[in-house]
Amino acid sequence: MAGEKRDFNTAAATWDQKTHRVRMANNVAQAILGALRPGPDTDVLELGSGTGLVTLALQPHVGSVTAIDSSPGMLAELEKKIAAQGITNVRTRCVDLEKDDLPGPFDLAASSMTFHHIRDTDRLIGRIFGILKPGGKIAIADLDSDEGRFHESNEGVFHFGFDRYLMRKSFEAAGFVSVRNRTAAIVTKPGPDGGVRTFTLFLMTGEKPARETEGQ
Ligand SMILES: C[S@@+](CC[C@H](N)C(=O)[O-])C[C@H]1O[C@@H](n2cnc3c(N)ncnc32)[C@H](O)[C@@H]1O
Repeated sequence: MAGEKRDFNTAAATWDQKTHRVRMANNVAQAILGALRPGPDTDVLELGSGTGLVTLALQPHVGSVTAIDSSPGMLAELEKKIAAQGITNVRTRCVDLEKDDLPGPFDLAASSMTFHHIRDTDRLIGRIFGILKPGGKIAIADLDSDEGRFHESNEGVFHFGFDRYLMRKSFEAAGFVSVRNRTAAIVTKPGPDGGVRTFTLFLMTGEKPARETEGQ
């Protein structure tokens, strides 16, 4: 997998111009809403929110969204949208998911297309478990195994997609129950040879037990 962290700041201003990104984010948000049915009492954390494509699609249906990302440039794009649309239930915070403490507690932790940029995803899943309220839910969307073909450059890509079975095991090892997956989006992109390539995104969901099992 390719080396150091990708610089998302330079990509931020034009991020939303790629229509497949907007479509993917909307599909993921719809899959989260359909699978978990969050409501006006649900406080959501989006991890790796980028310019807020998923955050802003979830926001009308939930109590609040806290959008965290390590790229100030991506967050600045989201903040412009929040200001322009007069949105009052979305806040942003610059957080490096590999280094910083996660805010919490939340009812729902969601993430889309960010986990492949995280070296130790098992550790992050465990940390998410820690900041969810009892009965809280997790929803992670990312690429199914793509053999490194999705990105034009694999700089900062630490996983060439994920195996759903292994991701489910990782959720269960962290303590999540009712772990389920579904296909959240099908993406077509032109490949380097001029042909069209198709990729799929899974949505893996799970629940933190409402009470800790005695003796654990
Ligand atoms: C492919 S973008 C996805 C953005 C958004 N979720 C979407 O669907 O449009 C990945 C995002 O993860 C963020 N990211 C990557 N590594 C991160 C880290 N260690 N901590 C926090 N955010 C990170 C990047 O800054 C970027 O905004």
